[in-house]
Amino acid sequence: MGEHFPPSAWRDRVMNKVVGVLTAGGDSPGLNAAIRGLTKAAQGVFNMHIIGFRDGFRGLMENRAEPLDRGKTSGLLTVGGTILGTSREKPQAVTVGGKALDMTSAMVDNYRKHNLDVLVCMGGGGTQRSALHLAKQGLNVITLPKTIDNDIPNTDVSFGFDTALSIATEAIDRLHSTAHSHHRIVVVEVMGHRVGWLALGAGVAGGADVILIPEIPYNVERVASAIRFRSREGKSFSIVCVAEGALSDDDGQQLEEARLRKKKTACEIEKKLVSEEISQIKTRVEQGTYTLAKRLEEMTGLESRVTILGHLQRGGTPSARDRLLATQLGTACAELIAQERYGVMVAARGAGYEPIPLGEVVGERKSVPLEHPWIRSARHVGTCLGD
Ligand code: F6P
Repeated sequence: MGEHFPPSAWRDRVMNKVVGVLTAGGDSPGLNAAIRGLTKAAQGVFNMHIIGFRDGFRGLMENRAEPLDRGKTSGLLTVGGTILGTSREKPQAVTVGGKALDMTSAMVDNYRKHNLDVLVCMGGGGTQRSALHLAKQGLNVITLPKTIDNDIPNTDVSFGFDTALSIATEAIDRLHSTAHSHHRIVVVEVMGHRVGWLALGAGVAGGADVILIPEIPYNVERVASAIRFRSREGKSFSIVCVAEGALSDDDGQQLEEARLRKKKTACEIEKKLVSEEISQIKTRVEQGTYTLAKRLEEMTGLESRVTILGHLQRGGTPSARDRLLATQLGTACAELIAQERYGVMVAARGAGYEPIPLGEVVGERKSVPLEHPWIRSARHVGTCLGD
């Protein structure tokens, strides 16, 4: 006869643990599924107590706490967003009275006040950094990787990505027929922050003719010539899928040089001037999609239109894959708490999971490697990547 779960060797340690949970950063499909998975496993299997904090680290600072249980998290699997709410506040910089203040100690106090054994933080890169900061103050912390950008290192994937990928792909599918009917260039901007996973994935899956990602600075003349080539071949429309962080080779070079100058200079005045220069380039990049569409129109003689997918990509019900992943990581998190494996991110690894020390997650961004198979496939099917 198999032993009950949890094994008796764990039982004394796991009963009555108090688990805090918060969601931080941009919301992402799958967050509710993860909260449900964590709560159901932690309470149902391990008899732990769960306390949710509202609106990310701000809620921890303001002690906006509410108990969670199996009943409260029932029916959440398919629901988008996060029932806990979220914010982009960091422990070291919370906006209070118009000023960004370090509120770490208030958060530590509330952690102690609730007698938490561990705080679970679900979020992207910024949240991983904040969690590590709290771990360094002596708190037990575990994180889950959540972001549609898929830029968290040391996890195969983050939940939210698959849903956003499907939404962006469907949008490209739909844009095809209208671009075709009007003989237009449609430039569709996809989220992804500073990486190109979403744009590349959706671009390949949706059959975009041009895909522009931050990892490959683009040359506008090469993009125009790929579109002109299609026209000569009798295809009088083109879909250009551009990542929000994509930048032209000129902007890319200027940005790199400016960042290098900022790093090298010891002079505060020069640092300030270079920072202004950097933010001007960034603003140019943010408005880049409209500029790009206009330039392509001038250079090809085809009319152009812009579609910014924006927050549509983060809204609504999670895909089956994201529900599965979020449930798996949420329940795995409860198992790790039972084993007192703290200071880790619950990473997706193959069909399972792996606890990764937070120090190995923070400080890096997972960009698309230039030799990634999706890039190779895109090139093989004749997609222009702007280089
Ligand atoms: O990190 C997720 C993300 O959706 C990015 O792709 C995007 O750059 C950013 O958040 C948008 O942030 P906000 O929701 O604050 O507008």
